[in-house]
Amino acid sequence: MRYASVFGSNQCVNFVHQTRIMPVILGIESSCDDTAAAVLVDGHIKSNIISSQKVHKQYGGVVPELAARAHLQNIIPVVDLALRTANIDKKEVNAVAYTLGPGLVGSLLVGNSFAKSFALSLDVPLIEVNHMQAHLLVHFEKSIPNPSFPFLGLTVSGGHTQLVLVSSPNQMEVIGQTLDDAVGEAFDKVGKMIGLPYPAGPLIDKYAQNGKANIPFPTPRVSALDFSFSGFKTSVLYHLRKQQQLDEHYIQNHRDDLCASVQHTLINILMEKLEKAVNKTGIKKIVIGGGVSANTGLRQALSKKMDWNVFIPPLAFTTDNAAMIAVAGYFKYQNNTFGALDRQAQSRMPL
Ligand code: KG4
Ligand code: ZN
Repeated sequence: MRYASVFGSNQCVNFVHQTRIMPVILGIESSCDDTAAAVLVDGHIKSNIISSQKVHKQYGGVVPELAARAHLQNIIPVVDLALRTANIDKKEVNAVAYTLGPGLVGSLLVGNSFAKSFALSLDVPLIEVNHMQAHLLVHFEKSIPNPSFPFLGLTVSGGHTQLVLVSSPNQMEVIGQTLDDAVGEAFDKVGKMIGLPYPAGPLIDKYAQNGKANIPFPTPRVSALDFSFSGFKTSVLYHLRKQQQLDEHYIQNHRDDLCASVQHTLINILMEKLEKAVNKTGIKKIVIGGGVSANTGLRQALSKKMDWNVFIPPLAFTTDNAAMIAVAGYFKYQNNTFGALDRQAQSRMPL
């Protein structure tokens, strides 16, 4: 029998929590534009429901106010479907893990408030999860190959590009990161320049498969293990302007080669820094996570590294999902590290 407080230190209501043998954890993710819920039973994902908001497509990027409103509409049906798909009654849930940050504050607040109310009404503990940690920790879902510690993590998403030295579930050190845009953002912004809807990353990936990487975009010269993508973006813009002066249909006529060249350059930048990180740390165990870890080019480049031990997540665990929140939450559940009802959503949250 263990005692845990779901309230802040200035409040005095404690509840008794008995750690279960086969715990059922409900995960909730709402940091950006995906409303997601998942059920984890004894370390295995039983359901992983994601409602991706379509409303942002017409604006070419996520509109925070619209994202928060869409989360409000989606959260109850998504959680309900996650429980039904897993064949779990809400009374069987032993803990609620949710994304505390980082992310858009309005979006985070919806998941945050829902998770607190749900946990309070069921009298079960809350677990606060760092979204970026979760992108790496999802590799510990029990049905897939799990890495051992330490390993090098590469988190590549729409908001982050980080090289992380992961020594344990709660010991992560950022050893390199982007100085400007995230790599997913670079995919999306360049995609917008060539007329693709948001998010352009998956479309660039798709069209790249029919094209040739025959346009030599420059790669940035950034010191050590950091990344930069803004110069690359500008070089694509100048290239398009110049070519469109010669051929007004340049983009339509060269879409696939443009996509292949963009993807080739971005993946090369990532691979070059990964190689540097491996040489610097001597760690050859690589774990990737985040939306861009779905990219075919990145997966192929990594699979060619025969002397590395590479962990690539199943596609369902790449873009934002709640399975990763539940898996990351499970580590905290096992350590009895529970959250507080008065904890504020954190738009910025270090690893
Ligand atoms: O992790 P995620 O779902 O959300 C954030 O935390 O940002 O990542 C979304 C990003 C978007 O920029 C999207 O374009 C990119 O991941 N993405 C891809 C692919 N699938 C998603 N980028 C390149 N290739 C893909 N297949
Ligand atoms: Zn993410």
